[in-house]
Amino acid sequence: MCSVVGYNGSGPCRQQILEGLARLEYRGYDSAGFACITTASKLHCVKAQGGIDQLRAKIKMAQDDGIDGAIGLGHTRWSTHGSSSENNAHPHVDCRRTVAVVHNGIIENFAFLKEKLQLLGHTFVSQTDTEVIAHLFEDELQTKSLERAVLAVVSGIQGAYALLVMSEKHSDYLVAIRKSSPLCLGILPDQTFVASDVAAFIDKTDEVVFLPDESFALISKTGYAVYNFFGERIYPPVEKTVCTWSAEGKGAYEHYMLKEMYEQKRAIIDTINFLRLHKSTRMQQLNLSADMIHDLERIHFIGCGTSWHAGMIAEYFMQEVAHLQTQSFLASEFRYKKFFSCSRTLTCIISQSGETADSLEALRLLLASKQPTIALTNVASSSMVREADGFLLTQAGQEIAVASTKAFTAQISALFLLAHWIAHIKGLVTTQAMARAEEELFVAAEVLENSIERYKFDIISKRAPFYARYKNFIFLGRHISFPCALEAALKLKEIAYIFVDTYPAGELKHGPLALIDAQTPVVIFSCLDEVVYKKLYGNAQEVKARSGHLIVFAFEHQQELLALADTAFVFPKVNPLLAPVVMIGLIQFFVYQIALVLDRPIDRPRNLAKSVTVE
Ligand code: AGP
Repeated sequence: MCSVVGYNGSGPCRQQILEGLARLEYRGYDSAGFACITTASKLHCVKAQGGIDQLRAKIKMAQDDGIDGAIGLGHTRWSTHGSSSENNAHPHVDCRRTVAVVHNGIIENFAFLKEKLQLLGHTFVSQTDTEVIAHLFEDELQTKSLERAVLAVVSGIQGAYALLVMSEKHSDYLVAIRKSSPLCLGILPDQTFVASDVAAFIDKTDEVVFLPDESFALISKTGYAVYNFFGERIYPPVEKTVCTWSAEGKGAYEHYMLKEMYEQKRAIIDTINFLRLHKSTRMQQLNLSADMIHDLERIHFIGCGTSWHAGMIAEYFMQEVAHLQTQSFLASEFRYKKFFSCSRTLTCIISQSGETADSLEALRLLLASKQPTIALTNVASSSMVREADGFLLTQAGQEIAVASTKAFTAQISALFLLAHWIAHIKGLVTTQAMARAEEELFVAAEVLENSIERYKFDIISKRAPFYARYKNFIFLGRHISFPCALEAALKLKEIAYIFVDTYPAGELKHGPLALIDAQTPVVIFSCLDEVVYKKLYGNAQEVKARSGHLIVFAFEHQQELLALADTAFVFPKVNPLLAPVVMIGLIQFFVYQIALVLDRPIDRPRNLAKSVTVE
């Protein structure tokens, strides 16, 4: 979940690398570092705890050192091995400080390698897994060519890695090595960029080489050569890529999260319009034939975090609209479970970034067993789009805040439409019904935004300051509102650091009811299914009967439930399947305001990163 950026070419590298790193800070922001080889072939390295701003300040302080060169590399870190500190920040260097390495991924056998290297006399200064790579290169480069040294190092390390390496001995070359973790080259006539994500250099070039898995590139000032892990030269294609990077900034908003919450209506509308207007492209991209759809028996969804919740909500779309058996899986669990291949099961991997390691590995597992797959993602240039059999793109625009908001509602919208397309091909819904589905999504997007506006002042002035005092919450939902409760709870934990336990409301009397007291507010998310609503009302009564404090998100006609609430948020009736869309905007806003009262770093919560590219 770190990011790496490198450069070799005609210009000085520092500015280019720092700019690239700033764009990839979403991948980790607890420390950062930069190294270059100067014209005198000396390796210089600067590291700082914190983000790119702290690194820039550190470089400035040492500026008379002339820290710049034609070849360099940089890193932003999200700690896996060793705490967030300057020592553990990348780049890592060898004993002689002649080799520098940055890494995204995990070296699984680092403890064994470290011990071995220590016995050989190497001195380690960090707690990271990455440092072993610098020492391994130190040894291998004594006797081997650069190419041979790379092959020797990769044959001894296990795990996932995107590595950039440079050394004083081969001061004309930057080495980029990839296994599992993404890495791509940005190509220009007299310079080459390399980064974890094209966003790092997309303003400079759209000509990109995605390094194949288990390959490495030797990048010189005038070009690059790619090899596989057998040492054979390979020629991955140069592709023109699209990237949604925008330098727009936060505008008048205090946080990206707030801006992105307000962009939800637009994200939903853009997603619907894009998928409607590009119908033929969309079908090609999905890569699903009518025959396949007729034969479909099941659809599975796989994702992590918010994307998993989107899949859980989409279960109801697929069951009720497309009459398909459906199941959602957490990618991190799915990977280690037995699964049964079936050509009649379509699996949809849901991921905003398209890079989440667990989801990507689950996809690869399915591809290896020839299961049909599609990826639903927000990033057209992502690994999942390239690797899955087909894909579906949401149009949420770049999401910068760690907490996912507009990407989530765009995912739900795309999945709602997917269910209708499948149902249409199966002859279950008419063309008119499909048009109505789009209309209903537009209405839901409108209600989402209006609800924030309606309660904005009340939340800011009263509710958020009041509820920010509570240490624990219980969130309840049933049917389609249960995944909505899970998503709401994730937001409260993620940005306000408040503990929430979430249950399907029917589970209350099987244990959690013992927790109900006046100190633990219970939040109930209602739903529009009449039978389920009655059951939820019963659950709310159980809470009130035990002096629980009740916050209710419910619909206008649900007066009995609303009457029980200590705090009520009311929504107009919409398509029952879209209830989560209309409620989620307001709960995001509520949670955001609580986090603001608590003075949390909302866009970059502690311990987290936007894109989780390690297991
Ligand atoms: C959501 O607020 C989180 N930041 C997180 O759960 C996220 O949804 C998860 O890591 C999956 O990311 P993806 O959609 O990019 O795969």
